[in-house]
Amino acid sequence: METLIPTINRLQEVFLTLGAEIIQLPQIVVVGSQSSGKSSVLESLVGRDFLPRGSGIVTRRPLVLQLVNVPPLQERLKIENGNGIKQNAQNSYPGVKAEEWGTFLHCKNQIFTGFQEIRREIEAETERGSGDNKGISPEPIYLKIFSPKVLNLTLVDLPGITKVPVGDQPKDIEAQVQEMILSFISNPNCLILAVSPANSDLATSDALKLAREVDTDGRRTLLVVSKLDLMDAGTDALEVLLGRVIPVRLGIIGVVNRSQHDINTQKSLEDSMKDEQAFLQRHYPSLVSRAGSRYLAKTLSRLLMHHIRDCLPDLKTRVTVLSAQYQARLNSYGQPVEDHSATLLQIVTKFASDYCNTIEGTARHIQTSELCGGARICY
Ligand code: GDP
Ligand code: NA
Ligand code: MG
Repeated sequence: METLIPTINRLQEVFLTLGAEIIQLPQIVVVGSQSSGKSSVLESLVGRDFLPRGSGIVTRRPLVLQLVNVPPLQERLKIENGNGIKQNAQNSYPGVKAEEWGTFLHCKNQIFTGFQEIRREIEAETERGSGDNKGISPEPIYLKIFSPKVLNLTLVDLPGITKVPVGDQPKDIEAQVQEMILSFISNPNCLILAVSPANSDLATSDALKLAREVDTDGRRTLLVVSKLDLMDAGTDALEVLLGRVIPVRLGIIGVVNRSQHDINTQKSLEDSMKDEQAFLQRHYPSLVSRAGSRYLAKTLSRLLMHHIRDCLPDLKTRVTVLSAQYQARLNSYGQPVEDHSATLLQIVTKFASDYCNTIEGTARHIQTSELCGGARICY
């Protein structure tokens, strides 16, 4: 994702300068049965340890995670010291002396600078909202993470689909959770990451079933097959990963997340990624370049890029219209007037059009060189 950061930041700047609404990147929502590995997958995408994970029902309220790209601390300090860099909406975080930090909507003024602390607060707030006995609540927890290493993007972690009520759960827990999930994934501007464990039958995948209810032609569903390492001896997921069991338009990506033992022994995300690569190399040599958490992140970046490309015609139209409006206004003054905004617009127009071309070029390049299995990415 990191390669996309400069591109998207600059584009969003253009949008801001034009007074346009910022490009709405699709929300990425994870869906799947309980303990399929949803929180683990999200965590590896963000690249930080901060989500409560584990066996049983751990995620019991939706977590709406808004990632906010901020300049590195060094740069922010310079800005605060008035070192000539212009203020904008993105760098108005005076006082935070950390490279990355988090805030919650439910305690706005508190700054969390450690990811451990963030995890503890998610756990505490989960209990405040849904009790300490496995209850669930549709009331989301809103968390923002500010970092120079993230894209401006929203990810949503959801409770898993479950069938049999336990603890304080109501009799209709299955229906309640489904309704909660559907309320998120029916948003057409959401990309569905359907997570299905490799050690259970894909044909019975709750994740895919729900995704199909709202995304009938599969234009915004990506299948993530987790737990490749937990398959019975003598079996593998090759046929599934090749799309021969159930085809998934946007693609099927196998991953190995950290096991419960890895979590207990605090294995780092970095080591986990290394071991994942080694595992894939050993068991799926033909798929190594098209599987794993890193490839998943890349694929998502590509989908986001396609989304942006689709937004560009609108951006161009807006520039043209604004430009014409300014021209008309200038003409109505009778004689040329020094107008700063007109100059600005020229710059932006040029920038936007140069930029559109760059992105279109990149997108075309991606389309011809990188598409897996000939599937057309439709997002
Ligand atoms: P969620 O309930 O869908 O959010 O799943 P979690 O991410 O909380 O994971 C549930 C349990 O499965 C945890 O104990 C994880 O360590 C474990 N787990 C998740 N993915 C994998 C995987 O790919 N391999 C192994 N061995 N364990 C996994
Ligand atoms: Na779980
Ligand atoms: Mg979870």
